[in-house]
Amino acid sequence: MAPPHIMVIFGASGDLNRRKLIPAIYSLYRDGLLPEQFTVLGLDRQELDDEAFRERLDGDCREFLGTDPDAVAWQSTLQSVYHMTVDVTDPDMYPRLAERLAEMTGAGGLVPNFLFYLATLPRFFAGITAGLGRVGLLDEAGGNWRRVIVEKPFGHDLQSARDMNRQLHEVMGEHQIYRIDHYLGKETVQNILAFRFANSTIEPIWNRQYIDHVQITVAESIGVGGRGRYYDQSGALRDMIPNHLLAVLSIVAMEPSNSFNADAIRDEQTKVLRAIQPFSHDEVLTSTVRGQYGPGMQADGTHIPGYREEAEVAPDSKTETYAAMKLMIDTWRWAGVPFYLRTGKRLPGRYTEVVIQYKHAPNIMFRDSLLKRENVPPNTLVLRLQPDEGIGMNFNAKIPGHALNLGTVQMNFRYDDYFEHAPATGYETLLHDCMTGDATLFKRADNIEAGWELVDPVMEVWSALPVHDFPNYAAGTWGPAAGEQLLARDGRVWHACEACRADVT
Ligand code: BG6
Repeated sequence: MAPPHIMVIFGASGDLNRRKLIPAIYSLYRDGLLPEQFTVLGLDRQELDDEAFRERLDGDCREFLGTDPDAVAWQSTLQSVYHMTVDVTDPDMYPRLAERLAEMTGAGGLVPNFLFYLATLPRFFAGITAGLGRVGLLDEAGGNWRRVIVEKPFGHDLQSARDMNRQLHEVMGEHQIYRIDHYLGKETVQNILAFRFANSTIEPIWNRQYIDHVQITVAESIGVGGRGRYYDQSGALRDMIPNHLLAVLSIVAMEPSNSFNADAIRDEQTKVLRAIQPFSHDEVLTSTVRGQYGPGMQADGTHIPGYREEAEVAPDSKTETYAAMKLMIDTWRWAGVPFYLRTGKRLPGRYTEVVIQYKHAPNIMFRDSLLKRENVPPNTLVLRLQPDEGIGMNFNAKIPGHALNLGTVQMNFRYDDYFEHAPATGYETLLHDCMTGDATLFKRADNIEAGWELVDPVMEVWSALPVHDFPNYAAGTWGPAAGEQLLARDGRVWHACEACRADVT
């Protein structure tokens, strides 16, 4: 159960609040994880009183509560919510907010522990925290806690991330800052730690002696929807790689920590990010790929517009909607094992997976048979993070019959077959962890900066060398040909997603 506190959400009229935060609070109520003394104060520019705000949320959030929501938990959620009309750029607003919170905790009898959630555009983050700091709302001297959750994107390059870290540190301690990466809230991502470190058979073969290479794919079938303005500034690289893909990579590649303490785990994750070989400018040309989708076709023949035709995207945009790269990690465990990362919009399916491809068996036994070593596929372990959550191991078996023929078969674990889990947004764990002061699944300043350090040279080269071949893949296909060549040059191929249907929507 979380301790009593007030959660203050900046940007309460935004998409994140209605899709993720309020539904996550509902799930926490449903699961009995919120205390009686829990209140949400939603802040935005809209002139609404508490009742009107609740009515709006009631309409806006229902579709995100799953089928057959628990009516009691939903009523508790709505009744816990209050509204305040604010302009975050107005310095006079912060004393008013302090007053409102003082009323709630004084006459209102609530406990003055505060969780501030910054769900606004990133350009307001520094101003908001400075404002909170000025009026003493981040001061923990009285014995009550004050925490701030900062949404992504955390900066747009190394320098801006450093600046933001410095600005936040001016008004609060690192232990008060919770930089969120919703991938770390996914059960299947957390399960990588359990899979690796709670099974004695896995970890001994999780290294360069046995593993040929690792692939991490985050494929999305959606386009940029209503987010054209943001996305056209950001692109696939910034939007996904320094945060989500590197979060997954750091869990796959980290050394075991000696405890489950937040800093012990995050030390190991940062160490592995720091051990990634930095790209020289020349290596950016050979080890990274960018793409942009043009018009394409859905499986049923429906036309899908190209990226440049999306709303609020420049008609000659050079922004990438696909990014892939090959990384090498300079550690004893991973020396010589490439990690291939790729992500893109408007690919043929939505799935996130990690593929651990093992080395070829020597196959000495089969040398007199017609089988050639290269025809006996190596074992692959596929961690399916979403949506078909599970783990599959592909291995070779003898096909029944007189001749010695081998075929690849699969051992398959599906979460749904073993565990029941109620619908969740992925934010429940993260919110609850912050409420209880557990920062393990949040990013530390050094971890964020290590991610940007890696992608900064890529962004420099990409912006210095404008592309001439965009769009270079059709919506509904697997990205540009160069994405395939990145692996083909090393004699490898991307693992084909078994569950993917050609259902670009
Ligand atoms: C967000 C990106 O952080 O993650 C989006 O800004 C992307 O562009 C999304 O679509 C993917 O998240 P998920 O949980 O759907 O894989």
